[in-house]
Amino acid sequence: MSLFITVEGGEGGGKSTNMIYIADYLKAKGYEVVETREPGGTALGEKLRNLLLDKNISNMDCSTELLLMFATRAQHIAEVIKPALDAGKWVLCDRFTDATYAYQGGGRNIPMERIAVLEDWVQGELRPDLTLLLDIPVEEGMKRATLRGEKDRFEQEQISFFERVRQRYLAMAAQQPNRYRIINAAQTLECVQSDIKQVLEEVCCQ
Ligand code: TMP
Repeated sequence: MSLFITVEGGEGGGKSTNMIYIADYLKAKGYEVVETREPGGTALGEKLRNLLLDKNISNMDCSTELLLMFATRAQHIAEVIKPALDAGKWVLCDRFTDATYAYQGGGRNIPMERIAVLEDWVQGELRPDLTLLLDIPVEEGMKRATLRGEKDRFEQEQISFFERVRQRYLAMAAQQPNRYRIINAAQTLECVQSDIKQVLEEVCCQ
């Protein structure tokens, strides 16, 4: 059995640190894990990521942004995700299409139906098996993210944008309780990782 696991959440929720924790945990259980991220994950995708995050591009149309997200995703699925799953490996991805629903859908107000069309087109039947949502109140997350220094094109958005992103994530988690697990990322790192471990034990490593 191979699983496709995604990690989602707003800014400052500790995704990078916890991605390492999850990968190490699964590898210690003996699974072969491919760690990757979106936007990016391939040589071409990383170039598109640089464009998407470039704070000097101030006039990117929201449809351009949406289509570039799915362009990097198409390449990522073809080059990395599908081959890995087909080979029986586990895929652990830092963000996937739920980020598009949250940021372009919730944040930019693009209709969900439009995103769903692209999702079906680019992914076919591919969907994550498990999504860990690292949830943190927006102001708390932004305080933590600010400590990281220079802000990218998304991080420069207003707090109301991130409130819409968070609410969209929480709504999706409520609608899809079988796939989603909400982790309270405002806790100490030790508590966050203990919660993550519990989910992994329950879902993946029985
Ligand atoms: P990161 O900071 O988690 O590496 O992600 C980069 C930014 O890209 C983050 O602000 C969220 C944004 N993003 C979208 O807006 N839509 C998407 O589909 C993805 C994958 C990321």
